Amino acid sequence: MLPYFPFGQQFNDKMGTRPLLESDRLIDVDEHYSGQIGLKRTLLTELPAYYFQTQSGYETAHWEVLALVLENLVRFAPDSFTLHQNGANWVWQNHLLNEETVFTFGDSESLPINPLDWVGRQVQEDLLLLAGNDAQLVSGQLCFANDWSLDEKLGLPFSQIHAPIVSIVEPMMRAAQMLMERLPIGRPIWRLNWSVKVSDQLDMTSRHTATIHQLLTNRLPFLPPDTIGNQLYIRVERQTLTRLPRSGAILFSIHTYQNLLANEASDPERAARMAQVFSTTPPALLAYKSMTHFMPELLAYLTRQSEIN
Ligand code: HEM
Repeated sequence: MLPYFPFGQQFNDKMGTRPLLESDRLIDVDEHYSGQIGLKRTLLTELPAYYFQTQSGYETAHWEVLALVLENLVRFAPDSFTLHQNGANWVWQNHLLNEETVFTFGDSESLPINPLDWVGRQVQEDLLLLAGNDAQLVSGQLCFANDWSLDEKLGLPFSQIHAPIVSIVEPMMRAAQMLMERLPIGRPIWRLNWSVKVSDQLDMTSRHTATIHQLLTNRLPFLPPDTIGNQLYIRVERQTLTRLPRSGAILFSIHTYQNLLANEASDPERAARMAQVFSTTPPALLAYKSMTHFMPELLAYLTRQSEIN
């Protein structure tokens, strides 16, 4: 089952942000770790300039992200990772991958690639960096995006990044803009986002959008309530936002989880909650999420599942 379940009593037009507590992990390592890191590294080898991009001048922030992520991994998964720090001389051991990396903290020449790109290859999360008063997207390693890409968004301020949805959830995006301007150092937050997909392909960056869309179009006639549960996937993003103390930039991390709809809906309580949220989501947002055409079948299926005891 999904470790995070973002469906309550009805659609929520608030941001859904919560404080990320000292006891909460920033980075999650789960049973898909090795497979997902392998996939990430393959994508980054095949198309490095598509999956990692940065503007110049953000080295301090990249090193801050590296330190934050490594220290968090060691704190929450000490059996899997070790970090020895002797001044600026750091030794990183990733026991899950049987790898050791020796480098000088703050010296980009001591790593084979950019520090943000390097640390992104240690975690399942996508890592994005926003900077400046208007929270511009200045750097990112983005392999498992849901329908977007760095090519489209790098260099854009927060407001323009969300241009396609601003009119649909305007108060939420106004609040989010304010949050980005005022997020204090030492008060990270997290939220969940959801979608329903026709594939469990993790890399849904924009270069795959047309293919996924075609897949959905082909499947639409074959999504009756009897089989829809085995043909759709619930995709959940756990997103965190952390203001970095030295650079003042914001780290935005995204961990993507997914599960077959039938698995989630085998729990009547979960089926009922998904039905309640989907049936109260604004039609324009359902259209944006490409859910409009299978909504009647989806709701019929979830209602039936919620009644099974
Ligand atoms: C509190 C913070 C945030 C809120 C409330 C928020 C909210 C949303 C919502 C409601 C959507 C519509 C899609 C959906 O619901 O699945 C969306 C899409 C998106 N968000 Fe955010 N978001 C936040 C932070 C960020 C940040 C920091 C980035 C940085 C890159 C980002 C990048 C995107 C992108 C690229 C899309 C897709 C836009 C498109 O279709 O072109 N979001 N966001």
